[in-house]
Amino acid sequence: MSARRLVIAIDGPAASGKSSTAKWVADRLGIRHVDSGALYRALTAAALRAGPAGGDWSEAEVLRHAGRVGLRPEGRGFAPLVDGAPAAEEIRAVEVTRHVSTVAAMPGVRAWVNAQVRAAADEHDVVVDGRDIGTAVFPDAALKVFLVADPWERARRRLIQRLERTPTEAEVAEETDRLVQRDARDATQTVPARDAVVVDTTYLTQEDQVERIVALARAVTHRPGDTSAG
Ligand code: DC
Repeated sequence: MSARRLVIAIDGPAASGKSSTAKWVADRLGIRHVDSGALYRALTAAALRAGPAGGDWSEAEVLRHAGRVGLRPEGRGFAPLVDGAPAAEEIRAVEVTRHVSTVAAMPGVRAWVNAQVRAAADEHDVVVDGRDIGTAVFPDAALKVFLVADPWERARRRLIQRLERTPTEAEVAEETDRLVQRDARDATQTVPARDAVVVDTTYLTQEDQVERIVALARAVTHRPGDTSAG
């Protein structure tokens, strides 16, 4: 009998802290983290490597590169691979971010990513972060969390991470505009599941967010008849 795997879905808009929170929650629970956005990014990076016609690809042209992209188990997560080599830095490049929403809007690409994510979760208990994990990829996930935060605060956090200093008001304003535009491009698939727990992180520290989600996860995994303590 194959055991049912535990899936915790963490969705939310850009810069809502999904990936870092998911990674941390996975560490705390001793399970694995899958970043679904990394697959959309890696496929975009593979297509960009093949030619500069970014933004002008058909779905078939993008999917031609799918065989060059994969996930390799690494630590408590998975490293994105392009052409067999780790590409964690390349997939965060500005050029990739510019084109990834177009790639992610292609239904065939979404089906391909979803299959990769489900395969990764087949073997392990996982925390998966993305946009549609609780709605489309794992509608039966044991716990679905949807993270939200004020756009200004998301922009501020992202800039602190990127610049490693306090950003100016003008910098935050500019980044907020960019984020709001990205939110609009990704809006179709970024919708909370009806049974998702919405967590507004605007006034929470990262530790608080993680604690809250770990507590929710423990509540849903502590089934009646479970004799383990805690
Ligand atoms: O979360 P991120 O910035 O790494 O996501 C990259 C892109 O992929 C972004 O355009 C949203 C999209 N995405 C998606 O459509 N569905 C997911 N499950 C994850 C990411």
